[in-house]
Amino acid sequence: MKRDVCTINDLSNEEIEEIFDLADRFLAEMGKAERPHQIGGRRGDAIGQVMTSLFYEPSTRTRFSFEAAMVRLGGSVLGTVDPVTSSAAKGESLADTVRVMENYADLIVMRHPYEGAARAASEYVDIPVLNGGDGGHEHPTQTLCDLFTLRREHKSLKDLNVLLVGDLRNGRTVHSLVYGLARFKANIIPMPAKGFELPDHVGRRLQEEYHHHPYPKEAVFAGEEDLPPIDVVYVAPGSELDLSAQGQVPAGADEDGAERRQKRALKFDVCYVTRLQGERLAPGQKLGTDYPVIDAKFLRGRRYRDTRVLHPLPRVNELGYDLDSDPRGVYFKQAAYGVPVRMALIAKVLGLMPFTSREAAPQRKVYGHAEGLRCPNPRCITQHPSEKAHLAPKFWFIRSTRALARCVYCETDTEIARYGDMTTRKASSDFDRLPALAAGDVLLFASAEDARKAGYG
Ligand code: NCD
Repeated sequence: MKRDVCTINDLSNEEIEEIFDLADRFLAEMGKAERPHQIGGRRGDAIGQVMTSLFYEPSTRTRFSFEAAMVRLGGSVLGTVDPVTSSAAKGESLADTVRVMENYADLIVMRHPYEGAARAASEYVDIPVLNGGDGGHEHPTQTLCDLFTLRREHKSLKDLNVLLVGDLRNGRTVHSLVYGLARFKANIIPMPAKGFELPDHVGRRLQEEYHHHPYPKEAVFAGEEDLPPIDVVYVAPGSELDLSAQGQVPAGADEDGAERRQKRALKFDVCYVTRLQGERLAPGQKLGTDYPVIDAKFLRGRRYRDTRVLHPLPRVNELGYDLDSDPRGVYFKQAAYGVPVRMALIAKVLGLMPFTSREAAPQRKVYGHAEGLRCPNPRCITQHPSEKAHLAPKFWFIRSTRALARCVYCETDTEIARYGDMTTRKASSDFDRLPALAAGDVLLFASAEDARKAGYG
């Protein structure tokens, strides 16, 4: 079966480790003498293989490091889609573009402003599709570079205290990274710009699917002064900060606990900085004036002594140039690692050096009929003018504290109030029974009213 990487969850932890082991090997074998984080030379593994990069949004690092990776493996590259000079300008659908490109290439890497675009593209072709960023949704290969950088700098991801800074609402790199960090048991500490907090569904998934407990900062950082402006710490289950697992009370109620907590909570291992995603702001949305800036001044103090500062780049004003010569600033190394990491990913998905561990998630049932629920996210690929007519909505059923339909493409969750059984034409809200029905016989509805309108009483 072909392998697509549209979200970070398309890869299992074992597969991610395999990619990192291979990237380490490429660096050991091809790293430049003076600058061992940079790859030099060329291998022959991908001779005869062609990658095409379809970039419908600006890119420097992602596109060029993918292309460098393919070239260093010995393969060839067909340049980018320019939305102005290609047929996209004539209104060609994504579906048609990728079906045509499949005739010319063995692998597609793509970036698109609509969320879920890579997943949709992957359904049209039999060659692997790698997501280089889909709107504000995800950027899984950036997450591979981020986690690889942390593994090289800190050895293990478990128990790391990771401060996420900036536009956490619109930053696709953040959304993939949060799940990656959670799966490797790091603690996650959001420090958003005001009005740019993590989307609710990301916070909810962190809790319900990854079992990260949101402690108020006072519980974890009891009695400490000079804290950055944070509210909550998402603590990984079983991590050193996981007070509940140790039978401790969460707040600073017992002296011993408070002391132990202080010792553990003194440091931030990682500060992941992101720029304001100006291109994703709603028309008229206010920018605010208090966007956090991370520079040498912010990082003074002992809790930042061993911090590693990462940034997916490009930076605007949120990251001080004074960190460029500070050993804690590792963002240029992080950008350099884009090459060995993407070489490893390409080698894996093209089957040149195949994965040896099991595949990621088991297939889940997919629900969706043209006349049922539609994804409400206006930036979902199923809402794109050129895709809408032929791309049917699809959902996974998620039973959390509520009954949810998650869009297979952009992963937006919609609460569902009723489902209709097409064999009996009856509506029901007994969601415990839903998984027993054949997905093809089920219509999902956001409200009882929608169900009635569709003829399900
Ligand atoms: C990021 C992106 O495009 O999402 N850049 C990158 O791929 N390295 C981050 C950004 O644009 O802010």
